[in-house]
Parts: sequence; C-alpha cells; structure tokens
Amino acid sequence: MHGGQTALALLLMLAAGTLVGGQQTKLQAIECPFPEGQSVASEEECGKYTACEWTDGRCHMVDNVAGGYVVDSEPEDTGRGFKVSLRKSDPSVTMFGHDESNLIFEVIHHEDYHLQIKIYSADESRYEVPVPLNLPESPGSEPKYSVGVPALGDHFRFNVTRSSTGNTLFRTAGPLTFEDQFIQIHTWLASSYLYGFGENTHLSYKHQFEPRSTFPIFARDQPVGTDAMNEYGHHPYYMVMEDDQGNSHSVLLYNSNAMEYSTFLLDDGTPTLTLRTIGGILDFHFFLGPTPEEVNVQYVNMVGNPAFPPYWALGFHLSRWGYNSTEGVRAARERMKAMNIPQDVQTLDIDYMERQRDFTYDPTHWGDLPALVEELHNDNVKLTIILDPAVVIDFDDYQPSIRGKEADAFIKWSSLSLVPEDQEPAADDYMVGYVWPDTKTVFPDFLKPETQEWWSNEIKLFHEVIKFDSLWIDMNEPANFGTNLDKPFNWPPDKEPWSLKCPDDKWNNPPYPTKMVRVGDNQSKRITDHTICMTGNQTDGTSTFLHYDVHSLYGWSETVATHKALLELFPGTRPVVLSRSTFPGSGQYAIHWLGDNTADWTHMKMSIVGMFDFTMFGIPMVGADVCGFFSEPDMEMCARWMQLGAFYPFSRNHNTMGTGDQDPGMWPEVAEISRYILGVRYRYLPYLYALFHRAHMHGATVVKPLLNVFPDDLVARDVDDQFLWGNGLMVAPVLKQGAVSRDVYFPQGKWYNLLEGSLAATGPATHSIDAPLEVIPLYVRGGVILPFQEPSINTVDSRQNPFGLTVALDASGEAFGEIFWDSGDGEHSMGESYMCKLQYVGNELTSFIKHGEDVVVGLKFEVISIYGASSNPTAITVNGASLSESDWTFSEDVEVLTIRLSAHLGEPLSVVIS
Ligand code: GLC
Repeated sequence: MHGGQTALALLLMLAAGTLVGGQQTKLQAIECPFPEGQSVASEEECGKYTACEWTDGRCHMVDNVAGGYVVDSEPEDTGRGFKVSLRKSDPSVTMFGHDESNLIFEVIHHEDYHLQIKIYSADESRYEVPVPLNLPESPGSEPKYSVGVPALGDHFRFNVTRSSTGNTLFRTAGPLTFEDQFIQIHTWLASSYLYGFGENTHLSYKHQFEPRSTFPIFARDQPVGTDAMNEYGHHPYYMVMEDDQGNSHSVLLYNSNAMEYSTFLLDDGTPTLTLRTIGGILDFHFFLGPTPEEVNVQYVNMVGNPAFPPYWALGFHLSRWGYNSTEGVRAARERMKAMNIPQDVQTLDIDYMERQRDFTYDPTHWGDLPALVEELHNDNVKLTIILDPAVVIDFDDYQPSIRGKEADAFIKWSSLSLVPEDQEPAADDYMVGYVWPDTKTVFPDFLKPETQEWWSNEIKLFHEVIKFDSLWIDMNEPANFGTNLDKPFNWPPDKEPWSLKCPDDKWNNPPYPTKMVRVGDNQSKRITDHTICMTGNQTDGTSTFLHYDVHSLYGWSETVATHKALLELFPGTRPVVLSRSTFPGSGQYAIHWLGDNTADWTHMKMSIVGMFDFTMFGIPMVGADVCGFFSEPDMEMCARWMQLGAFYPFSRNHNTMGTGDQDPGMWPEVAEISRYILGVRYRYLPYLYALFHRAHMHGATVVKPLLNVFPDDLVARDVDDQFLWGNGLMVAPVLKQGAVSRDVYFPQGKWYNLLEGSLAATGPATHSIDAPLEVIPLYVRGGVILPFQEPSINTVDSRQNPFGLTVALDASGEAFGEIFWDSGDGEHSMGESYMCKLQYVGNELTSFIKHGEDVVVGLKFEVISIYGASSNPTAITVNGASLSESDWTFSEDVEVLTIRLSAHLGEPLSVVIS
C-alpha cells in the first residue's frame, strides 16, 4: 500500500443495509436446499427448517436480517488487511443445526490483483486445506479493489469492487449460513459469462442459469455423462467476464470438502451463484486479471505453474485396457508401423499385472514383457504403465503390502470401535475395501511421509523388473467398489458376499450430503458410495485428518508422492505422472485425461469443454480418450476423433476391455487420416513445446478458448467447439456424425489455412467450411510465426529434422513468434536451453537469440513460408547473401512466398525481402 496508508484503506464502509420488502421478494429465487432434493419441496417440508420460508409455492432462505450475522466489532487493521467479528443474529434460525455463533471475516491483501477473504469460526479451529499455496511475503502497494462491509451493529454482507471500473465482483445476497456441516453463501454475479468449476460433466464452457443448474464437487470415479455430475477432480474455481470490454476476475473457494454450486437467475434476472460446502471454512482467493489470460496466470502462479512435459510426452500415446498379452500390444504396434503412424508412447493398463496386483506382471500372457519393453525402446517408444493405489491385504506373500504394513502406510479407521468385527486380523485397524484385484485391499495414506517413502521404494524395485518411463495413477479418488452394497460388481462369485460398509454417523451420513447422492450411478445414495468411508484417519505426520475433509486430496497426494518417486528414479529428468484425480496445484506434477468417456459424438464435443476447464485449473497437459473409452466407435467417429485428438495437448487413444481394438491402424481410412494429422501435430510440436515452456515459466495457457485471446468479442465467449494452440493456431474439428462441412467462427484479424497458406477469412466472420472426412479445418492467425520441424515417426527422430517457419502476416504485414529448445527432457534451466524471438517487420524476418546457441548445434532453418505475401520479390538475402531465384517460389493465387534456405538456428537470422 502507499506509504503511510493503513491496510484499512482497502475497506469501504457500506451504507446501513436497508432490506426493504422489495428486495426480499427479489431474493425468493434463493432456494432452500433439501437433502433429498427439490422434488420434495412443499410447505410442510419447508416448515421443518427455521432458516427457510414458504412464499408463493417456493421454499426459499429467510432474509439476511433473520438468518444472517451482525457485524460485532469495529474493523481491526491486521497490517495485511483487516478483520471484523460477526455474531449470528438469531441462534434459533438454522438449516441443520450447530451454527457457529461467532465468526471472523478477514481480508488479506496479497498482490494488487489478488486478495484473500476468509470467514471462519471465532470459537473453534476448523479444518483448513493443508496444500500449500504460493503467497507473496509482502503485499503489493496499489490494490486494484476495495472490500465493502457494513458498520458495527449492521447486518453483515460484503462486496468486492474493482476500483478502475466500479464493477462489483462479489456481492453477497441473502444470509450467510455457517454451520458445522453446512456452509452456504450466495453472490450476485457481474454477468452470466461464468466459466470453470469442476471436475464436472459440463456440456458447454459457459455456464447456464436458466433453468437453474446445480453441480456437486467431490472427487469421484464417475464416468463422463450428460447429467450434472461430480467427477474425478476437485476444483472449486470459477471465472466471470464482467463487462463487454472483457474485464474478468476469478475466484477460488479453497475448500476440499464435499460441495456444490448452483447458478440461477433472481426474479429480476440477476445472475446469481450459490456455493455450499459441508465442512472446513470459507477461504476465497480473488484474482482481478483484468483479462481472462491474466486471471489464469495469476491463479496458476498461486497454485503452482504447470509441469514442463518432456518433449516425448507431446507425441502420440497409444493405450488400451485389454491388449491381454504382449502379443496384443505387438499387433497394435505392427499396425502403427505398417501405416507409418507416429507414436511416442505405449501405455499398458491393469491387464499386464498378475491378478491386477501393482508391481507384478502376468507370467502367462505377459511373460516376455521385459522383451517387449526392449523392442519398444529400440523403436524409441516410451512405456507408461498403470498403478492403482489400493494394494491387496495379502500380508504373507505379497511383498509390497508386507513392506507397506511395516511402514504403517495405510489409511486406518478413525476409531478402533469402527473396525468391522469380521476384519482379517492381519489387516489391523486399516480400512479394508475392494477394487480391481481379486482379494480385498487397503489404501495407502499418501499424505504420510512414511507412505511416500514406501511407495517410492516399491516403484524403484519394480523398475528393476520393468523399465517403464512414466506412470499412470488411476482410481485415486480413491475408488472403492461396492461400498455400502451387498457386494462389489466384480466380487469373486465363489466367495461369500462382502463389501466395505460405512457406519451411520455424521461423517458418513452428513445432514446435507449435497446433490452427489442423487446423480450418476450413486447406488447406495451416500457420499461414501464407490469410495472409502469418511471415518478414515489420515496424517501428514503432524496433523491428523478425517478422510471426510481430505478425501478430494487423495489423488493430489498420490501425485506428489509418485512425482517424487520418479524424480528419485530418474534424477535430472521431467517426470510424467498421468493422474485421474486432481486438486488445485496438481498441475505442477501431473498431466490429466478426462476419464471414462464413451464413443459418442456428444462426449467428443464435451472433451473440448474439459480441456478448457483444465486449462483454467492449471493442468494444461490434458486430453480425452481418443475414439472413446466405453463402447465401440465406427470408422467415421474414430477418424474425426483422431483429428480432434491430434490437437489435445495430451493425445492418447484408449479404450476399455472387451471392446474391439480401436487403434488407428484398425481401419485403412482412419490409419491414413491419423498418419496425416499426427504428422501435422508432430510438425508443429516446436510451437506446442514453446507454449508449454511459457506455461511452466509464467503460467500462460497452452490450449486457449477463443475468449482468452479475444476477450471483448462477445461471440467468442460462447465458442466451445473450436480452440486455439496459443494465440496462433486455430482448430475447428468436425463434431457431428455425417457432417462434411461446419460453421467456423473467425475472430477479428486475418486467418489463413494452416497448411495451404491461402487467406481463409478476415474476421470477425462466420463461414461455412467444407470438411470432408479427411479434412479438419486448421488456421493460423495473421500476426503469428509458428516454428515447425518436418515430422517423423517419433519425436526422437523429428527433433533432428530441419526447422521451418510459418509466417502469417497481419493487416500491417507483421508477425511475431519464438522458439524454445532444449534436450527435451532435462531439468529446466536457462543454461541448457535455447530461446529465440522471431519477428517479421518491414519485409524483414529477424531472429534474436536470447541464449543457448550451443543447444541447437546442427539444427537449421530450411524453409520459410510467408502467408499473405503481396508480390513476387525481386531479391531476397539471407544474412546478407543473395538467394538465387530458384530458391523461392511465389504462388500468386494463394499469396504465399516459400523460401528455401540453409541457416543455423544458433546464428542470428536476417531474411530481407525486396
Ligand atoms: C478406470 C480408468 C480406465 C482404465 C480402467 C482399468 O476405469 O479410468 O482408463 O482403463 O480403470 O484400469
């Protein structure tokens, strides 16, 4: 803050709240949440809750005067912000009881664009998320916001305002509810341009307010579907575009308990958001951008910039569950090779294991797995293997569990009295469940240092047996089969029915279980369905946590442990950990796929929304199972999906067991289309790599929704069937069965066909574009230089190939770009990397090498294509030397100038065109 100013300068005293009747009428759309869902709403049901009121057929929350809190102290300067005390107005008004009578509302100033607001109990300490965030040591000096609260004695509400525009970013509506297991807050939104939250089955990127829509958030093994469901990860984070200029802010509710959010319109049409969580505290972080891209950067900087994937991870991954043998893998590999389809990674699913036990391989069908791995490595193909967290309770013969028990590595029941009577004695007080193996399992507590060491050691030991290159960690919500049911679906038929059954207590049956108990395949209608009981004890060695609180951190904690293990195993490299469950911060360590989708056109479209969501969550290395996990795609669908998947940052074809093979070599047409389109991907990997470098260094996005690049373009805000790589490469996949054309939206500027170089459109404009099966519309934006390299069958080869530049000129005849290069898999350091900036200005292309000339020895520019070139030049010089006329061609019809040259990347380049 300015010298001499106190932190109270952030505070804007709100005028005394005048809750006139009209305002309350307006708020009747703020509905009362019934544990059983709104279908039970009636005057009688409504009457059971003193916090609810029945008006004109609606059960809504009582007003703030009756149901909220009163400001109970003068604001106190904390040096970094301020705090005020709150007191519950009327203790008899409640939803589920156990209201916190006294709260603290605290504002903490971090950066000028970043503030934190916490609301917590003044009387007791409650669970707070233990995952560390990057927060500045000293605050910024010119906050771009103010926070309004009413004066002492007035009814509590608060708002956050952007100073430059006066835009209201957050403005509480109705009462704040803060009970032991039910916390609820409502806010007016600046607009209905709302994005984010997850992991959810979103059909569109932009959220819907009419009709009201409610999504739960809680890590869950929930396949993709079209209902409003909670899926694998936990990301209570959203962004709002406030105005037509594109001023945007985002909000993280840093809470890991089960929660839900609801979007709806008040009676006067105001877009409104309700947030509910059933534990912890309210801990908000606001980011003021002001552009969507800046918002993203600010958020990602706090939760941790994304990992920098090694170059090979950007190649194509082939996977399936149910190769069933090494021969199955070889057959797929042969199809890839026969058709010359690029591939960098081969992935093995649980069928490689013996009886689905981690750290084993099946001696019968996979007996020569070590030999297969050697074959793959000889072909420069990397190996990813799957590991599930749960390990079997065989403490006699299965060494990983024996050693795990020695390390006391597993989640326990929170009280000895909860251990089931029929528990196997060797399982001590561990919580026992059942997943893929044919015997019961225990679940490692990855928060615990001893567990991390044990896990790391098991990984090291298994690497002595199978030389994998990266790990895929699945089922880490954690998933448990058949919880609370008679028996799991895959329980051995010859055994007595059994399942993990969770006690009936306030943790396993909370008063408000959120909507999650009513969506998807929640068979037992409980929050413990398909996972372990909430009454598990976990510890990080210092504090003890209930699984109820840290459930959604399970995948995150396994990711951190696995990343650490791989770093120990492969020092100096960039580990690849593919995790299904994620939490804010996972992106520093993990890449992610969007889970179990189906070979279905709607799911194909939803994958773009999923990519956008995970871009927001700071996990840009993301993609969906190409050609669909469940059920079988036909030739057309798989061809279209391979075209789209060629532009997922994480590009992997994967499917479930029991279905036919769907690797691209299975159909001649798909093989040909895949060979071609993966060739295009591999060609532009240098561009993608530079984008990931930016993401890692600065938190920039890789895949971008159009609105990130064109925030004041209102049309772009609804586009979620097209996307960009960086600012420059636009992908417009065909997502409809039988379609041979599609409408493409071109935002402002010039757009060229990526490979032909002809001008496709000058935006803003929408055009219908021909796209027969072999075509996916691809564009480069005027003003951008895309570096490329001739493609090869894998990245080891392609990285040796000559470089080229696609120079797409904007209306003023200019374009800009960069190249980042290093060994492709070392620890990232400036000393061992090459960075050059490229510009085309005034008919001259120039490279400015920032560092690392030695890193690119042997690599040359051999072709430069200038899109939008106006005429055939009379002369061209490269670093002062004239080219002969045969070294360039100018195609008048498409206005493309193609120059052939030979210039080292390590030397400054100057190409002058006259
Ligand atoms: C889960 C994963 C899926 C995997 C299967 C078998 O369903 O999401 O990708 O193939 O388990 O391991």
